[in-house]
Amino acid sequence: MLKLRLITYGCQANELDSERIAGLLGREGYELIEHDEEADLIILNTCAIREKAEQKVYSRLGTFRELKRRKKGLRVGICGCVAQQEGQALLNRFPYLDFVVGPAQLTSIPTLLRERANRGIATARAPAFSYPSTAPIHRRSGIKAWVSIMEGCDRFCAFCVVPFTRGRERSRPPQEIVEEIRGLKEQGYREVTLLGQTVNSYGKNPRAPATFVELLRMIDHIIEGEMRVRFTSPYPGDVTEELAEALADLHSLCEHIHLPVQSGSNRTLRRMKRGYSRDDYLGKVELLRTRVPELALTTDIIVGFPGETERDFEETLSLIQDVGYDGAFIFKYSTRPHTPAARMSDQVPEEVKGHRLEQALGLLNMLSLERNRAYLGRTVEVLVDREDVKGDAVRLAGRTRGNKIVHFSGEEQRDGDLVPVAITGASALHLQGEIVSNGTKSLWKKDLTTLHPLSMIS
Ligand code: SAH
Ligand code: F3S
Repeated sequence: MLKLRLITYGCQANELDSERIAGLLGREGYELIEHDEEADLIILNTCAIREKAEQKVYSRLGTFRELKRRKKGLRVGICGCVAQQEGQALLNRFPYLDFVVGPAQLTSIPTLLRERANRGIATARAPAFSYPSTAPIHRRSGIKAWVSIMEGCDRFCAFCVVPFTRGRERSRPPQEIVEEIRGLKEQGYREVTLLGQTVNSYGKNPRAPATFVELLRMIDHIIEGEMRVRFTSPYPGDVTEELAEALADLHSLCEHIHLPVQSGSNRTLRRMKRGYSRDDYLGKVELLRTRVPELALTTDIIVGFPGETERDFEETLSLIQDVGYDGAFIFKYSTRPHTPAARMSDQVPEEVKGHRLEQALGLLNMLSLERNRAYLGRTVEVLVDREDVKGDAVRLAGRTRGNKIVHFSGEEQRDGDLVPVAITGASALHLQGEIVSNGTKSLWKKDLTTLHPLSMIS
């Protein structure tokens, strides 16, 4: 068998794309390996969301020059968002690179590999093509699966490169999604995460015969309580009453939402072109928490967006405080090619961004710790997944329905088991606990959980 070393950077969409690449190349006789030196083919599946992510790719790519000289026949390709963004420039800059393939052209990889004589490029000016449902996906986990329900993004937030690298928004037909999930259920998967850049805006282009919430209900119906369902990431402007209701009454749907806010300042939100105000966002949070009091809420925040004043930043701090997030990814603004924010004149100095990042992280950790401490003494449903624990064989880990990582001890439990765990310890990032009884196979119904509304405690 030929040996494929696949290195993945970036978001869940990229993780799924790598599983697609592995599926396509599995069909061509490649098996996945973990070491660069043994490979016949090395593929970097890249991320362009921030400059640092892009730099990582270039420095890794640099190390393959020598390897290629030593190993005749080794081929090196680059896929993903950096490939789409840079295109031909990558082939010029790295003469030892064999091919460059954008995220919407993955199915061209086998053909490019067969055309050995040429250096291949497959990037589209306006990526429109979706991965065909008949093409294989080689999933890394047998328990949790990513399922793409829409690709691309039409929102063009002023800082974001995604609409340029992943193209216009396009939704998959609902029946195709439902069939894929039915297949996963039959294979014994326990959790599915629906993916899209603005996942709850699903169904607009081309107009699908189901809205996002209708799709959630169709999925809930066919999986009959056998799997957990998550989705990421929703766009706050499209959070509706119907979605809040679905979160409250669909048993399969986990009580967690990752709702990117980006900033707490109206002025900054406007300049970012996010399409909602601070009050709009807080209104959505209130709607969700009223319907689902135990909801875990996480977010993305950017500090140091061009023109962000100390006062704007304080508004972000006060929003973090007002919402009381369970967790957040906080990023320093990074200038991205093609984006309107890159051309704004009032860029914020690096050291100011760094200082704001530290301040925001400090506040966030304090609040997440408080939220996690509210779980002490409670029993939660945990899906065992050893990937969440590093090293130690006896210690287990898994995730609650609220997506919190829980560490606990256990010998009989296996990956994919659902177990009740009593929470005995909490830090800002994790919970610790003990198994209450032997692992149960069936999913708990929401009304049987011992969770209390967090809002009543904090
Ligand atoms: N809608 C997508 C966003 C993908 S990008 C989703 O939620 O899945 C993920 C996060 O990266 C964004 O929410 C934003 O907080 C951050 N990000 C995007 N562009 C950035 C930039 N230029 N600088 C810093 N952070 C950025
Ligand atoms: Fe990016 Fe905004 Fe879309 S953050 S992915 S342009 S919703």
